[in-house]
Amino acid sequence: MDSALQFLEQHHVSTRDQLLDFLRFPSVSTDPDRTTDVAECAEWLANHLRRIGLPTVTVFQTDGHPIVYAEHLEAGPKAPTVLMYGHYDVQPVDPLHLWTNDPFEPTIRDGKVFARGATDDKGQVWIHVAAVEAMLSTGEPLPINLKLLIEGEEEIGSPNLSPFVRNHAAMLACDAVVVSDTAMFAPGQPSLVYGLRGLAYVEIHVDGPRRDLHSGSYGGPVANPLNALCSIIASMKDEQGRVTIDGFYDDVPAISDQERTALNALDYTSERLLHDIGQPDAGGEPGYSIVERLWTRPTLDVNGIIGGFTGEGAKTVLPAKAMAKVSMRLVPDQKHHHIVELITRHVERVTPAGVHSRVVDLHGADPVLVPLDAPALAAADWALRETFGTPCLYQREGGSIPVVELFSSALGVPTVLMGFGLNTENAHSPDEHFSLDHFRKGLDATVRFYHAMKTLA
Ligand code: BES
Ligand code: ZN
Repeated sequence: MDSALQFLEQHHVSTRDQLLDFLRFPSVSTDPDRTTDVAECAEWLANHLRRIGLPTVTVFQTDGHPIVYAEHLEAGPKAPTVLMYGHYDVQPVDPLHLWTNDPFEPTIRDGKVFARGATDDKGQVWIHVAAVEAMLSTGEPLPINLKLLIEGEEEIGSPNLSPFVRNHAAMLACDAVVVSDTAMFAPGQPSLVYGLRGLAYVEIHVDGPRRDLHSGSYGGPVANPLNALCSIIASMKDEQGRVTIDGFYDDVPAISDQERTALNALDYTSERLLHDIGQPDAGGEPGYSIVERLWTRPTLDVNGIIGGFTGEGAKTVLPAKAMAKVSMRLVPDQKHHHIVELITRHVERVTPAGVHSRVVDLHGADPVLVPLDAPALAAADWALRETFGTPCLYQREGGSIPVVELFSSALGVPTVLMGFGLNTENAHSPDEHFSLDHFRKGLDATVRFYHAMKTLA
């Protein structure tokens, strides 16, 4: 282990420069114009994994973007097997004008690397890739068997990875999964995440007259699709912020007093949140603290809305159609497909006369809780504490990583969510960045984790 740690110390500049190369690929999975860039990123990553000495590296083609998979199984059948999962796809960059540098020309400022994907998730994937390189470079056998699964569709709900995991359960068999795609509670505070919210993402389309109409000649007797859409949206939450879709909360049990006490003991005040986001007041459900709202309660939010005239000045027009993108974060035991059925029924029920509405299921993920008593978690706890010099904190997370639920339900193994990002690092927004200090510590922690898995699993 010590020689791998030494390698990381000696090679930290080249390790960082390789990450910059990885960040240069505009691998935006949701953008059809970027399909070739996504594929080139996968090939480049696979070639790098071959170069550092992984004996088996395969790029699996799918109906969407490719999956990169590598194995190093020379520790033998008695040694534990760890499956590392991450994603090389990234979110779109818009609004581009709010970026300080080109999102695909990574730039280092103030000890941080700025680029799309820096913290979510290329920087964190690179921690594992470089840690494996360091372990292989020592010439010593790897302490464990290792499988790396790095996909290109996480940001669009992993539509092709889900069937892939089910169909390749034997290939992916392991004792534990490790994922670095979450945030730490605060800078320098190592954190292990034991719960992720799920997601149901839909579009609500409302169609009205066959063409846009003059609002003077026609306004009054015509049902306006944009007004109708707004009333549909308004009907889905009450004034206090509770979701009013029938059955929405049916599968949401109250959390235990013990967990509530533990989560509320974390120092995440409304002041901290409001300072971070620059708003004067918090929203959300009454009767729940900030962390409970973020991690243990479901949500319903409009992500975007289009329709009618939005240019400069005024245009007197009744739009022919309108559309809203609506997402719901889910908590155990809500299920993505069931929630889509509930919202579809609700929209049907409240659609005003004269317009036609339709709900389209874009993608989603089921929520998940991972066991707190898994030996792999103890290995991560030790590795993080040893590296950061401070005890780990245990928390849930408000975001989603769709495949993690499958690792428990289809592979039957625990997932260690050992992230090195920060929620303030602008994932999914302009000027995304990643702390180079956390990157550096993440490398050592990851080498320690893989070694600890040998004895603890
Ligand atoms: N890395 C995030 C998950 C995450 C979000 C971790 C927030 C910690 C805090 C992941 O890449 C992500 O953004 N996932 C999407 C999944 C969705 C598109 C199905 C998300 O949560 O929006
Ligand atoms: Zn991510």
